[in-house]
Parts: sequence; structure tokens; C-alpha cells
Amino acid sequence: MNFLKNTAPADFNPLDDDVITGGKIRLRVKKLADARNDYQWQSDAELARLDATRTLIIPFSVYLLDYATELRHPKSNRYPLAIETLESRHIGNCTCYDISKKKGEAQLGIMIGDRDYWDKGYGADTVSTMTDHVFLTTGLHRLYLKTLDWNLRAQKCFRKCGFTPCGETKRNGQDFLLMELKRERWEKRRGGLRG
Ligand SMILES: CC(C)(COP(=O)(O)OP(=O)(O)OC[C@H]1O[C@@H](n2cnc3c(N)ncnc32)[C@H](O)[C@@H]1OP(=O)(O)O)[C@@H](O)C(=O)NCCC(=O)NCCS
Repeated sequence: MNFLKNTAPADFNPLDDDVITGGKIRLRVKKLADARNDYQWQSDAELARLDATRTLIIPFSVYLLDYATELRHPKSNRYPLAIETLESRHIGNCTCYDISKKKGEAQLGIMIGDRDYWDKGYGADTVSTMTDHVFLTTGLHRLYLKTLDWNLRAQKCFRKCGFTPCGETKRNGQDFLLMELKRERWEKRRGGLRG
């Protein structure tokens, strides 16, 4: 995947056939064949609860139509990518969205739907790979994310990638922790890793 090195901040242009490769995963552009897994994961009550969303209840045929439309007309400030193992197994999704050129920031979201891949470092590798890619190829200076305040697995995963708590928020009666990673901290950590 090539998010072009543009001069303007927050330019984020994935080329369709490329992938971003991490240590344990690859991130690639989503395709119609992902719909079955995505439908299954979004219809799963536990995953929906962890993700603070509603469990999907529409038939697959309806879901597929919407899915195909979204693939044909992607939104300009939202880049949903599929997470694959290095053996090409689709295990979840990671999205960079709410990209604001004005503020120089964007939000990240991640969901590993395949439970066999929880607690094995796939989440941390995905978030680090996405974070590196965004900071290396765009002018964004801050990435942030929201997680339910009781989702300790997610928080541990994000902390491992350098995100730190930066506030709290409430939505639909649920409490969320906000976490952020600023470019400066990311650069220091990379310097530390190299040194
Ligand atoms: C959250 C998620 C992305 C994390 O990915 P992952 O691959 O499971 O995470 P990692 O293995 O990289 O890191 C998880 C860490 O949390 C730890 N952990 C697991 N359960 C925990 C708990 N209840 N309390 C504290 N730490 C916990 C793990 O041991 C691991 O730490 P370690 O590497 O020191 O052993 C993934 O589990 C997921 O998508 N879950 C379902 C949906 C979800 O919660 N989405 C998040 C929305 S913000």
C-alpha cells in the first residue's frame, strides 16, 4: 500500500493492489470476498459489545448490496483496510477515519474478529504497522482512538504501540477512554527502537 508522500498534510491515498506489511500481518484494501467474514463478525453480540456498536440483524443479501456500494464509492476521509496474516487469512479490519487535514489528525479503529488471533500480538502489530505507515507517508501529527473504559485488552494493546490516555468521553451511556499518539512521541520511540 502506498500512501503517497504529498506535501499537504493528511493526504492518504492507498493504491488498490498494494499492501502494507508488518511483522505478523499485512494490511490490504478491502474486497467483496471479505463481506462474509465482516457480516459474521458484525452479527456477533460479544464483538459488537466490545466495539460499542449494535449487533447486525439484517440478512446477508441486504448487507452484501450495501457492502458492494461502499466498495464502489469509498469515502474520502475513511480508509478501511483488511488485516491478513502473512498466510493470507483475513482475521479483522483496521480503519483510519475522521481524517482532518485542518487539524492534522485522524482516528484509528481496529477489530480482530477471529478470536484465535487474540492475545498473540496481532493487534499490536497491526496498530504499529498502521501508525508507522500514516506518520511516514502523511503530514498528520496526531492519531487517536476511543475504547470502552473496561476494554483492558484493547488498552494494553494500544499502550504497547505508544498510545497514552488523553481524556474520557461518554456516548449512549457508555464510558470511553481516549488515547493518542503524537508524531513527536512516535519519532522518539522509533529513535529509541533503532538505538
Ligand atoms: C483489542 C484487540 C484489537 C487487541 O488485539 P490483540 O491481538 O488481542 O492484542 P495484543 O495481543 O497485541 O495485546 C493484548 C494484550 O492485552 C493483554 N490482555 C488480554 N486480556 C487482558 C485483560 N483482561 N486485562 C489486561 N490485559 C489483558 C494480553 O495479554 C496482551 O498483553 P501482552 O502482549 O503483554 O501479553 C483485539 O483483541 C480485538 O479486536 N478484540 C475484539 C474487538 C475489540 O475489543 N476491539 C477494540 C475496539 S477499541
